[in-house]
Amino acid sequence: AHRFTSAAAAQSAAIKRVTVVGGGQMGAGIAQVSATFEHPVTLVDVSQEALDRGKQYMGKSLARVAKKKYPEDPKVAQEWVDAVLGRIEPTTNLAEGVRKADLVVEAIVENIGVKQRLFGDIAAGAPEQSVLASNTSSLPIGRIAEQLNGTRRQNMVGLHFFNPVPQMKLVEVVKANETSEDTVARALEFVKSIGKAPAVCKDTPGFIVNRLLLPYMMEAIRLLERDVAEARDIDTAMKLGAGYPMGPFELCDYVGLDTIKFIVDGWYKDGEGLQGNNLFAASKKLDELVAAGHLGVKSGRGFYDYS
Ligand code: CAA
Ligand code: NAD
Repeated sequence: AHRFTSAAAAQSAAIKRVTVVGGGQMGAGIAQVSATFEHPVTLVDVSQEALDRGKQYMGKSLARVAKKKYPEDPKVAQEWVDAVLGRIEPTTNLAEGVRKADLVVEAIVENIGVKQRLFGDIAAGAPEQSVLASNTSSLPIGRIAEQLNGTRRQNMVGLHFFNPVPQMKLVEVVKANETSEDTVARALEFVKSIGKAPAVCKDTPGFIVNRLLLPYMMEAIRLLERDVAEARDIDTAMKLGAGYPMGPFELCDYVGLDTIKFIVDGWYKDGEGLQGNNLFAASKKLDELVAAGHLGVKSGRGFYDYS
């Protein structure tokens, strides 16, 4: 009969220790939620300032959660926040940060070359059986992994979270061609362990949500460019007329205009099946805002002013 060898059994072990690389709005959220659900977490970023920003973001978000969890007792609420933050170890040392990881989740800038290089460094330091995951919005998981060895490629999966991570229930679990069933099973188990609902999908541009959301966002920007209505009125229309919690411009600002530009430019240039698709053609308005550093909520200004 077929019995698991000890190596296979070790490979199937549940994910406990989580390392998140990139402590921006997404990475900080993923670290926070993992720690909330009792996982020991290491958070890696390139500078102390970036780590401090991540910690500040997590502190604020956790305070909101704690206030609801312990409405009568601010002291207990603060102790709970401190305990969650205490499970998150920040570091700028990637090699050290991934050394004991059962799962590494990458949430750095949306750029294929930069992500490929990072995964080379992660593979040099992480245990062979660890699950390697990218939170990419738009890049093929198979391409991010293409320079890794066979075992690493089998252990690679997409884990696509949504912003704000503490509040959005979905995680897309993306199966690349070479992702093993064991890796998918471990990823699904992890997603459930942090209270999220998974949706499994294939490795195609935008997976499910962004393949539908980005055309909507870009069409909203083009309505504005054609001067059909003002941003505020388009947002009001979609909130009150279609029941969306945020209008398209509020959502663009929330996601980050740089991220949106990386996504559409990448798909228009060489997205599988999307090359040259007019839905994703450059928008003058979006390009101007990004060039001016108006990236949305995270920079204090985008389509709207948050200062
Ligand atoms: N941390 C913790 N809790 C948070 C939070 C955060 N960062 N942000 C919001 N919340 C909580 C609030 O405390 C509040 O909780 P209760 O209802 O229990 O009191 C709840 O969320 C609602 O918040 P608000 O009342 O402040 O505001 P809201 O009702 O407008 O909800 C929202 C906020 C959940 C963000 C809602 O506006 C929403 O769902 N917006 C759309 C978000 C969306 O579409 N995200 C996907 C973006 S695309 C993406 O992420 C993929 C990609 O690759 C680009
Ligand atoms: P962000 O700009 O807020 O954060 C990126 C972080 O990565 C920064 O703190 C930066 O210092 C760090 N970083 C950059 N290069 C690094 C490296 N080599 N090593 C370690 N850290 C590094 O970006 P974000 O919005 O958190 O997006 C991160 C990723 O998540 C992108 O791939 C994006 O497409 C994806 N994503 C974004 C959203 C969204 O709504 N913003 C939603 C889902 C997925």
